[in-house]
Amino acid sequence: MKPREIFYILSFAVLALITLISFIWSPIVWSLVFFGPVIIIGYYDAFQKKQSIKRNFPVIGHFRYILEEMRPEIMQYFVETDTEGRPINRIFRSLIYQRAKKAIDTTPFGTQLDVYEAGYEWMEHLVYAKNSSELEKSPRILIGGSNCKQPYSASILNISAMSFGSLSQNAVLSMNKGVKLGGFAQNTGEGGISPYHLQHGGDLIWQIGTGYFGCRDNGGNFHSESFK
Ligand SMILES: Cc1cc2nc3c(=O)[nH]c(=O)nc-3n(C[C@H](O)[C@H](O)[C@H](O)COP(=O)(O)O)c2cc1C
Repeated sequence: MKPREIFYILSFAVLALITLISFIWSPIVWSLVFFGPVIIIGYYDAFQKKQSIKRNFPVIGHFRYILEEMRPEIMQYFVETDTEGRPINRIFRSLIYQRAKKAIDTTPFGTQLDVYEAGYEWMEHLVYAKNSSELEKSPRILIGGSNCKQPYSASILNISAMSFGSLSQNAVLSMNKGVKLGGFAQNTGEGGISPYHLQHGGDLIWQIGTGYFGCRDNGGNFHSESFK
């Protein structure tokens, strides 16, 4: 006789015994109310012929199907990294959600993508600018519509935000000289405008977020006068 068959005979015997005792001792009846459905499921599993896992592992075999059902959620919330998901990874999905809700979508200090990965594509400035007639042809974007008093023709490539405090006097000076020569703009970073940003007269993008520097009053609030 196989161990499985012994198990079935034993479980029938135990069930019959419990049923018998329940006539004498009422707590057993109550326990049957709670465990009865499980017992029924167990016998159903053991005798059905469609799913071998349930037949071999009555009741607990259901967990396999429950877990399989939860697999996509477990993968998405616990296993998958922000950059792995296919066809659209989590960082791009989150960006779409944030923009759709008009929530803040900016992430300071770089990217989570592996920019050294083979096949990663990007655009870069030329280290040595070509002659100025070619620069005039470079693509630009006009910022400010018909009601704007001072529209600005912006280069599509500029120097991204880096505060004076995180760089140095010479770095800010040389970058500003570079933007003057190259006809693009330098973002001041959250540290705001320092005297070194103004020395060479290169175009500036004034970063007023995160609001710690630049144009706030003593209480830390936006100060429209210093902004003007
Ligand atoms: C030294 C340093 C300072 C930065 N300071 C600021 C800052 O003040 N404000 C800001 O929004 N981003 C700041 N950034 C982030 C950059 O503007 C930029 O978003 C980031 O370096 C990613 O661009 P990249 O891949 O071209 O380097 C700083 C980055 C560096 C390396």
